[in-house]
Amino acid sequence: MAMDTRDTGTTRDEAFSAAARAAEHAPSVCNTRPWAISVEAGRIVLGADPERGLDVADPLSRELVLSCGAALYTIRVALRAHGVAPALTVLPDPDLPGRLAEVTAEGRLEPDGAAQAQWAAVTRRRTHRGLFASDVDDVRLVRALLRAAADEGAELRPLTDEPLIRSLAGLVSAAEHLQRHDRERSLELARWVRPPGDRAPEGVHAEDFPDTSDADSLFPGRDYGQGRVRGMLAVRGMATGTVALLTTATDTRAAWLAAGQALQRVLLTAAAAGVAAAFHTQPLEEPPLRAFLAERFCEGAHPQMVMRLGRTAAGAA
Ligand SMILES: Cc1cc2nc3c(=O)[nH]c(=O)nc-3n(C[C@H](O)[C@H](O)[C@H](O)COP(=O)(O)O)c2cc1C
Repeated sequence: MAMDTRDTGTTRDEAFSAAARAAEHAPSVCNTRPWAISVEAGRIVLGADPERGLDVADPLSRELVLSCGAALYTIRVALRAHGVAPALTVLPDPDLPGRLAEVTAEGRLEPDGAAQAQWAAVTRRRTHRGLFASDVDDVRLVRALLRAAADEGAELRPLTDEPLIRSLAGLVSAAEHLQRHDRERSLELARWVRPPGDRAPEGVHAEDFPDTSDADSLFPGRDYGQGRVRGMLAVRGMATGTVALLTTATDTRAAWLAAGQALQRVLLTAAAAGVAAAFHTQPLEEPPLRAFLAERFCEGAHPQMVMRLGRTAAGAA
């Protein structure tokens, strides 16, 4: 029988349905939304949808599982905000690798301020592309972001050394320009780019990426527009943002799922404080560059995401 989760009368089943719907707002590589979520008797089952994988860019499905991890954290936050204490079972059956996690209800809880703030940020959060009005200059927020990643078993590593940031930008740039010359990759990416006016929920829409020149760009954006749309301008008074790497100690499927949950927890914590994020995963899709990043930037830990965090001119996150 469905239990009442709060005085408002929200039942467990209603909370589960709301959580499954909310997961659709999670970030995913190229907005492929590669998850398969079902609400079954007393549980939410999260699976991966291999049909939505990027075979060329992501042959091991690392980014696919990361995206599913972001959806999983969204489910957990939604349940907490609805007064349901989530119990998580990860990778319940090694014989079913497409089945990633199950969430059941452990009982009721009183939603805390953090859960409410993150829940409110689920639909507001959007990926930022381009420069920022300012870096993350609030030390307490930086600490909260580090804790958000650590609580999910990952590590957020902000880079503060200017030569190191330039070096990382160089790797992003090298990977991006190499990838623009790769026909198979370009064709794969083009399948997920939606033309103006296309209202399909998945895929990257033309309105989502800036139409600017990347002549002086430090961190070129991914070229979703196949040359028609380029990266970002270095504009006087605009900031690159706070550059950070998200890493894990191991590089297993379970670590990728944890990294995805950590990513979304960091993003929602940031968004709740008015801070947005931009992603640059291009070098992580080139195994030699990823290995180089692990060794030279991450003390041997495994880089799962390259991101910039900052406040946008509009204050949107
Ligand atoms: C694993 C992963 C990799 C991503 N890589 C990039 C990237 O390289 N460049 C980029 O602009 N956005 C990247 N994104 C952001 C997605 O494009 C974005 O989440 C998706 O289009 C949905 O848009 P939204 O985040 O605004 O809801 C990535 C997201 C994930 C989860």
